[in-house]
Order: sequence, then structure tokens, then C-alpha cells
Amino acid sequence: MTDTDRKVIIVTGATSGIGLTLVQRLKDAGYFPILTGRNHEKVANLSDEIGVPGYHLDVANEDHIQQVVASIKADHGEVWGLVNNAGIWLEGEFAEHSTKDIRNVIETNTLGTMLMTHAVLPDMVSMGRGTVLNVVSTGALYTRKMISVYAASKWAIRGFTGCLEVEYAPKAVRVMGFYPGKVNSNMYETAGIERDLDVAMTPDQAADMIIVMLGDENMVWSHVSGRSIQDYV
Ligand SMILES: NC(=O)c1ccc[n+]([C@@H]2O[C@H](COP(=O)([O-])OP(=O)(O)OC[C@H]3O[C@@H](n4cnc5c(N)ncnc54)[C@H](OP(=O)(O)O)[C@@H]3O)[C@@H](O)[C@H]2O)c1
Repeated sequence: MTDTDRKVIIVTGATSGIGLTLVQRLKDAGYFPILTGRNHEKVANLSDEIGVPGYHLDVANEDHIQQVVASIKADHGEVWGLVNNAGIWLEGEFAEHSTKDIRNVIETNTLGTMLMTHAVLPDMVSMGRGTVLNVVSTGALYTRKMISVYAASKWAIRGFTGCLEVEYAPKAVRVMGFYPGKVNSNMYETAGIERDLDVAMTPDQAADMIIVMLGDENMVWSHVSGRSIQDYV
């Protein structure tokens, strides 16, 4: 494969769950995935284990985004794709959340996705080629109690994704959204929430769908959602 064929694709939040599985799948499928994550040690160990480049990247830190995207470009060339996957869960009554927790969810799930996209889009437009895939959530398709901040963070990305889809498709850059239902990952546990995930889809199933969406550059897969069939109870 020559450098011009190489599809460099950045995956955020790739130290666990969907992102980690996706990096492995992308490598198997012939892409050039870049594993990124907020935890230095996990990034170093996992990138060694899988055999892909790894970068410490906290998407809630704007300066960090600028520096790391510039380093990735300098080290590996133009970025063909970005999967905005990093995300955190927050559950509970709105008035009980700390303002710090509210800010953290919005800075990670919402601003992180927007600023990562902002950092890679100009080059994609210049190249006349590129793909941004946002991992959203079924939480952006409905409303229910106890998930107000997480839902707001993802509803914002649903709007953002749809607007960029129509703004950039005429410039040959695809912006797409994937909306999984419950996934059997670390997300709830990391947020201190107990959840029975036996019926949830697996990170493998989610990664498979993302691989399909990325595949055909002539197709823009718009707002693709799915749930495990066992999850309809
Ligand atoms: N699990 C579900 O039921 C579900 C359903 C719908 C949508 N989603 C979405 O799917 C995406 C992936 O989540 P997952 O289910 O795979 O959960 P996960 O296993 O917890 O993975 C989330 C990843 O994001 C990373 N991360 C968190 N904050 C970050 C930050 N500031 N900067 C960079 N990385 C950060 C985590 O790092 P650490 O390894 O350090 O924690 C982890 O690698 C998220 O956007 C989530 O909202 C999940």
C-alpha cells in the first residue's frame, strides 16, 4: 500500500469498549487507525498490544486537541477519517448533579466532538475527501428522566452531525452519525452506575456497523441506529 492509499483514521476514546474494538477491526480491514485516549498508560499498553500508533488525547482539552492532531499529521500524513467515540455517562436527578459533572459531560461528549471535528475538517475539504463519524446514542432520539445531561450532550451532536452532513457532503466530506442502543462496555461502571448489560449489544456488533458505514465513500449513512434484539423487553 502506498502512502496515498493509506487511510489514516483517528479514533477517540479507544482505550475501552467500542473504540478499542473498532481500532482492532479497522486494522484488520486495512485502514491505518490511530488509537487515542485520555489515559497515558492504557494508550501506551494497548497501542503496543495491537500494533498501531497511540496518542494520549483528552478531548475535553482544546489545546491538547490542537497539539495532538498536529503531531498525528506530522507523524503519519493527512487524516482521512475521524471517529468521535470518546464519551462519558451521567445519570441521576438533574438538580443533584454537581456543576463540575455537568460541565465534564458537555466538554467531553459535545465540545470534544465539535473541536476534534474542527481540527480535521479544513484538511479534508482541501483534499476533497474525508469522513467524520460521530458515535451518538439512542439517548439522542428520545427523552426520559434521569439522563438529562447525557441526553443533552448527545442531542446537540445529533443536530451538529445533521447540519455538517449537508454542509460538507457537497465538498465530498462525509459526516455521519451512529446511534447505538445499550452496549456492553465500561461506560456505566466508570460512571458508578450498575446496569445489567446481558441483553446489550457487544462492542463487536457496534464496531461492525461502523466499519460498514465507513466503507463506501460514495455513501453517506445518515443517522444509523440499532439495538440488540434481546434489549426489546
Ligand atoms: N455503552 C452504551 O450503552 C452506549 C450506548 C450508546 C452510545 N454510547 C456511546 O459510545 C461511545 C463509546 O462508549 P463505550 O460504550 O465504548 O464506553 P467505554 O467503554 O467507557 O469507552 C469510552 C471511552 O472514552 C474514553 N474517554 C472518556 N473521556 C474521555 C476524554 N475526555 N478524552 C478522551 N477519551 C475519553 C474512555 O477512556 P477510559 O478508558 O480512560 O475510561 C474510554 O476509552 C460513547 O460516546 C458513548 O456515549 C454508549
